[in-house]
Amino acid sequence: MKAMEVMKAMETMKATAAANANIAIIKYWGRRDDRLRIPTNDSISFTMDDQLESITTVEFDHSLKRDMLVLDGRPATAKELARVSGFLDIVRHMMERPAHAKVVSKNNFPRAAGLASSASGFAALAAASARATGIRMDLKALSALARLGSGSAARSIYGGAVEWRAGKRKDGSDCHAVQLSPPERWKDLRNVIAITSSTEKRISSTDAMARTVKTSEMFTCRLASVEKRLRVVRKAIAGHDFEGMAQTIMQESDSMHAAMLDSWPPITYLNGTSLEIMRKVVELNQSYGRPVAAYTFDAGPNAHIYTTAKHESEVRKILAGMKGNGIEKIMDCRVGQGIRYPDSHLF
Ligand code: PMV
Repeated sequence: MKAMEVMKAMETMKATAAANANIAIIKYWGRRDDRLRIPTNDSISFTMDDQLESITTVEFDHSLKRDMLVLDGRPATAKELARVSGFLDIVRHMMERPAHAKVVSKNNFPRAAGLASSASGFAALAAASARATGIRMDLKALSALARLGSGSAARSIYGGAVEWRAGKRKDGSDCHAVQLSPPERWKDLRNVIAITSSTEKRISSTDAMARTVKTSEMFTCRLASVEKRLRVVRKAIAGHDFEGMAQTIMQESDSMHAAMLDSWPPITYLNGTSLEIMRKVVELNQSYGRPVAAYTFDAGPNAHIYTTAKHESEVRKILAGMKGNGIEKIMDCRVGQGIRYPDSHLF
């Protein structure tokens, strides 16, 4: 390397990470500490496969006057940049010689439409920026760091079935995710996703959950029932028992959306097609006399129907019958891996 190139390499620190979205079956909705993003309850999710992937390259560069962010090929809006810069400030706090950064991020699925792009996005950003600084972090520390960008990102650090523990400490130092079981245990699990709208949501999950905590009386009741559901789901995951958690998954989604509706002004993410899909899944289960599929919805109208490989085509068929009737696209996801570090950078 020539002297100039060596100087440049010392000035810049670059890394790339990839992470996948996760779809919760016990939801994170509400925080006991907004600044530290400490949730009111533990939550459980499955990390999805590479069809719902974010790849992010971060380069800290001492010659930059401010942070730069390119999202899906276009310059980020002021709001998006402010959120990412706020997160990078936390990383900079750990650096000996803090620098501004150029960040380029790419999603292979629509952002902000209830497909958990903030989870994969901030998990990839946390992993790439930590690696770019050269600071070594274990997965728990990365999970806690990702949490500060977007709560649900804490879970996307790991693959398979993942639990994010709220922890007890005030400073959030015990608030991170852990893997409950690896992706290989869930080869037969499917998430059939029905995209009923790919437009951005009207209210961010951050604002919406704060409103729920502040205004919904039902929210307190929900916290008690979440504890019961957590026990059911932990047991079912340990026993690899989809049927044992299917009904609980649906009731959990309903409980979160009911608390949203109970907020003031009411928060409604579901649309008519979402409700129709819920009815169809209930009917399918009734026809079997046992649950073979379970719907769940995040902060958006898109349906995630967890089912087993055996019933996947049946679920797809039901949704295909509704295509053109509010469903834009159907995707089949499997359970996927946690963060990884691709060899090539995005710039
Ligand atoms: O991490 P956020 O702020 O995007 O919150 C997402 C919350 C839900 O997706 C609705 C539920 C969850 O646990 O992922």
